[in-house]
Amino acid sequence: MQENTSYNISSEISSKINKWLAKFPIDQKKPAIIYALHLIQHETKYIKSEHVNAVADFLGLKKIDVYEVASFYSMFETEQVGKHTISVCTNVSCMLNGSDEILKYLEDKLKIKVGDSSEKYFLKDERECLAACCGAPMMQVNHKYYENLTKEKIDSIIDGLENER
Ligand code: FES
Repeated sequence: MQENTSYNISSEISSKINKWLAKFPIDQKKPAIIYALHLIQHETKYIKSEHVNAVADFLGLKKIDVYEVASFYSMFETEQVGKHTISVCTNVSCMLNGSDEILKYLEDKLKIKVGDSSEKYFLKDERECLAACCGAPMMQVNHKYYENLTKEKIDSIIDGLENER
């Protein structure tokens, strides 16, 4: 996890965290850690130590409580990654429907290996089942699901990302 300047949680994010906290007993702040980190990562693309510190301060928790969550869950990135995160499911249903070929096609197209990142794309380590087996083979791009993948469909998805501003 990279060090360390300070980070101020925006009023928009703090308001969302406070709404979430209102669902729990007043002395229970830990249920907001995942949500707070998720909101920050959505803004910053990955979690740095200043984000961990800011969440701990905001919730009145120990930094280790927040760090443990950030470093445990695979949905949080703690190193700098490319702008677009792509996760190809290679679990059983997807594997039986050609996910290995899909993953290889993406690696060749993006010129990165699974687990690696370029400035623009992060091809995340292979995931367990992403709970869209009926649409296998599938992938997530920035948390959006794309199902029944073909090479042509991948070309169209990547073209869309390339043409984004
Ligand atoms: S095995 Fe790929 S979504 Fe379930």
